[in-house]
Amino acid sequence: MKILVTSALPYANGNIHLGHLAGAYLPADIYVRYQRLKNRDVIYMCGTDEHGVPVTISAEKQNKTPKEIVDNYYKSIKKSFGDFGMTFDNFSRTTLSIHHRMAQDFFQKIYNKGYIYPKEIEQFYCPRCKRFLPDRYIIGKCPRCAADGAKGDQCESCGRWLEPFELVEPKCLICEGIPQKIKTKHWYFKLSAFQDKLSDWIEKKTDWKEHVLGFVKGWLKEGLRDRPITRDMSWGVPVPLEQAKGKVLYVWFDAPIGYISSTIEWSEKKGKPDLWKDYWLSKETKLVHFIGKDNIVFHALIWPAMLMAYGDYVLPSDIPANQFLNLEGDKFSTSKNYAIWLPDYLKDFQADSLRYTLTRNAPEARDTDFTWRDFQAWHNNELADTLGNFINRTLTFINKYYNSSAPKASSFADNDKRMLDILSKAPAIIGEKIEHFEFKNGLQEVMKIVQEANRYFDKEKPWATRMTDPSTCEKTLNVCMKIVTSLSVLIEPFLPFTADKVKKMINFIPQDWDGISEPKLASTIGKPEILFQKIDNDTIDIQIKKLKKTDITIEEFRKIVLKTAKILKAEVVQGSKNLIKCIVEIGDEKRQIVAGIGKDYKPDELVGKTIVIIENLQPAKIRGVLSRGMLLAADTKEGIILLTPDKPVSSGAIIK
Ligand code: 2FM
Ligand code: ZN
Repeated sequence: MKILVTSALPYANGNIHLGHLAGAYLPADIYVRYQRLKNRDVIYMCGTDEHGVPVTISAEKQNKTPKEIVDNYYKSIKKSFGDFGMTFDNFSRTTLSIHHRMAQDFFQKIYNKGYIYPKEIEQFYCPRCKRFLPDRYIIGKCPRCAADGAKGDQCESCGRWLEPFELVEPKCLICEGIPQKIKTKHWYFKLSAFQDKLSDWIEKKTDWKEHVLGFVKGWLKEGLRDRPITRDMSWGVPVPLEQAKGKVLYVWFDAPIGYISSTIEWSEKKGKPDLWKDYWLSKETKLVHFIGKDNIVFHALIWPAMLMAYGDYVLPSDIPANQFLNLEGDKFSTSKNYAIWLPDYLKDFQADSLRYTLTRNAPEARDTDFTWRDFQAWHNNELADTLGNFINRTLTFINKYYNSSAPKASSFADNDKRMLDILSKAPAIIGEKIEHFEFKNGLQEVMKIVQEANRYFDKEKPWATRMTDPSTCEKTLNVCMKIVTSLSVLIEPFLPFTADKVKKMINFIPQDWDGISEPKLASTIGKPEILFQKIDNDTIDIQIKKLKKTDITIEEFRKIVLKTAKILKAEVVQGSKNLIKCIVEIGDEKRQIVAGIGKDYKPDELVGKTIVIIENLQPAKIRGVLSRGMLLAADTKEGIILLTPDKPVSSGAIIK
């Protein structure tokens, strides 16, 4: 049997953060590494998703071209994945011509079969920006859960897939203007035609994760609607129809096809251009898509429907989507820069400590929370004091008292046999968990062995038997060496860097997952080194401070318009002691601002002063009086002190 594993193609518009890793990447890598150790025919495909509005919006915000954005992030995502130990067989890009050809072929074939049809529709157009506004260029309130900031294609709060017109109080994302509806033509995928086929297919997936099935069945119950799969944009895969000039494929139509094009690229690199067909065109292939829960609908309904429409390809056999990982009690937020970015993490810590934490706390069945304190505690207590300690105490002992040669033993006592029995069953027990996507439980089983091993060492007291009963001491160390050798394989899917270090230290003789149930020992070992240094409180405090939610990004700061303004008139707001209503001049404009400065300034003192204001604050009523802007002042022990320019300056000057 062939196993084809994929992880969601990340958008090439930003770096990877811990939430992404816990959702779609780390579990897949554990699964694939395990399958390789079982000598199975497995390949692992991924790449960057380089089209779509997420990319063009980032480009606009950063004043760059979409190409510059994706070139930059393709490189940095690939590098940090490599440093984290991800072992993709291929990491492709959806801007490659091979992918454009595949996506166009896909469209053309299902169009020819009648599953794609054109439809004249109304679409939002921003008169100020003079452009059509595809999905995520529109924001508004979600019609289902009423959350603010829902995007034109999906509400991130409740997960509902939306159409822009469904949004309440829609706005243009770029200029916040009110969009107009204008007629345009788009091409629709006949998802509704697959309602029954998909329902029958899903019915048979009884062993899928409960939350994935729940989500999918909810959608099927609501009834599947046809979906537009083209967009009025220039960045993307051009729609391969003469009548659709200037339009591109919707990013969610082309992205999953990227799994196929990545496999084709892999085959070509191997010099066997048809090899991909053995995987994608065989009904025997086990196709497993690892994703986060926000991608369920696309992978479990729309993508299978696309595959059914096309006809030749294998359908997903499982979609073990994870729930979300939160960060110190809050949602990860790329736009608010509330995240731990992988390249930043890797500057300060080992990859394996994070792989351990994210697996130990994996959001497999429900949302979980990452905290730096857990990270520190698990690294120190479990990796350093339990795993690292056992390996270190064993190897140091052999190094010191047996001149680095692994002690031999021919007969064993009950306690030794018990330990060896645990070892012989371990690959099957842990393997079973991994096969069922229970990575957290798999890791727990590994750690159970390590705990047992430490207890065994303590109980056998080799430091004492070395003097009193040398042959028992040899037996103990022989068993401990077997444990270390087994562990070097059993931890590999989870902690590959540590596994490599251990293997080097013990001169590991190549053995696979099943073989390790009766480990073969090398005759001599190398020099032991410490696997995990403890992490102190100060180091963790620095990380926690970095996460302060008040930090804003440069992009957010750039939104604030600061200008000089001259106070023309000032008077106390009736019925208030502290509020002063000022009429200010900002260049040619005059407007009213209300400020709580009455205790420190008399209206007369204010008139004629040039001050600094935030010009683009939303108008608000303070005590029923309209205020359009906010003045800047220092709030000191001695009272409020207005900020004024250092030299004379006209009003309306922009402050940078
Ligand atoms: O949500 C995302 O980050 C998407 N870029 C995932 C795409 S998965 C697949 F279809 F390519
Ligand atoms: Zn606009």
